[in-house]
Amino acid sequence: MTREEAEALDLADPLARFRDAFDLPSGVIYLDGNSLGPPPLSAHERLERASRREWGEGLIRSWNDAKWIEAPLRVGGKIARLIGAKPSEVIVADGTSVNLFKLAAEALSLQPGRTTILSEAGNFPTDLYALQGLAALLGDRARVKAVAPADLVAAIDDDTAVVVLTHIHFKSARRWDMAAVTAAAHAKGALVVWDLCHTAGAVACDLNGAQADFAVGCGYKYLNGGPGAPAFLFVAERHQAAVRSPLWGWMGHAEPFAFEEGYRPSGDIRGQITGTPPILALAALEAGVDLQLETDPALVEAKGLALADLFIAEVEARNPDKDLALASPREAASRGLHVSFAHPQGYALVQAMIARGIIGDFRAPDIARFGFSPLFLSHAEVWDAASAFADIFSSRAWDRPEFRVRAAVT
Ligand SMILES: Cc1ncc(COP(=O)(O)O)c(C=O)c1O
Repeated sequence: MTREEAEALDLADPLARFRDAFDLPSGVIYLDGNSLGPPPLSAHERLERASRREWGEGLIRSWNDAKWIEAPLRVGGKIARLIGAKPSEVIVADGTSVNLFKLAAEALSLQPGRTTILSEAGNFPTDLYALQGLAALLGDRARVKAVAPADLVAAIDDDTAVVVLTHIHFKSARRWDMAAVTAAAHAKGALVVWDLCHTAGAVACDLNGAQADFAVGCGYKYLNGGPGAPAFLFVAERHQAAVRSPLWGWMGHAEPFAFEEGYRPSGDIRGQITGTPPILALAALEAGVDLQLETDPALVEAKGLALADLFIAEVEARNPDKDLALASPREAASRGLHVSFAHPQGYALVQAMIARGIIGDFRAPDIARFGFSPLFLSHAEVWDAASAFADIFSSRAWDRPEFRVRAAVT
């Protein structure tokens, strides 16, 4: 493709108008919205309002007057529309890791006699850690088994209590078939917890269409909720009365302001909250989610996949280096919205790109990872990024001592 052809695609892009809704520095091509989404301009306004007016002027009255107390359920209900769930099935609470722990524990509690928590080897570390921590707490009642993705479905057996999988893999972007895996688990009597961190706001997702049981996801990637944004969780309606969060806190109580001494859980999704919700962070997240709701997830997914395809094609057409290998599925239908290339100099390559204002990230040991957020990226930018990537090889621009110095966050 020529750059002119990429520009022509931008002129016909139904999502192009969203670019102006974001606060992005000029001269930067941001290929890391899959790690930390940029701020929507509306998030700045919401934060300002939440801080000055609601907090500063309203003070504690804002729990009622500004409806702070409803924010976890309200924002959860909005996220539900992006992931194929009912508003009463999603709530914003805690962080992804904490929610994963909670839901895996809850799924286990529904499966007396079964002890295996099954996941994939190479899953995002926090997912495995949360499960290992849960198993350590439960002693003989639970064990974690992590198998290669190719062996996963066959590994679901009569002892499998719950399968915990990340829908779109954090490194490769490989995408599980949510409906097929859920059906295979159910056929063996197992439940499934889906991690939607790289799914929500990126690709069309139909939790209820897939008969999903439980799901978690973060707010700071494609939902653009800001660094450390609170996470969301989904519990299918059919499980809500039977499960109970393992973290009993007053906000999950049936009547928090009755101040009873004994825990009496709210029997619905509100029982999944633990303590006081982070209102400022929720304000930013709501702005990001509202922006997503202005468009259609199918359009978002189609553009993101097209951008990722364009990047792969333009990098490979330039054939930059014999050691560079695509580490993501080539087939768009099997992928999420980021693309990984493996290379022994992966870290230095990403640093050299960042030095040119093209921001991606590195995932050890050798992955240069680039995300294609559809709401603010153009085809021409992706074309330019691919061209710069190839140039970094031919000019050996990556080969500088400072590009080998590892920062704390890669
Ligand atoms: C698949 C996946 N799960 C979980 C997390 C992080 O969990 P937390 O939001 O608790 O930091 C990430 C972060 O990138 C992720 O990619």
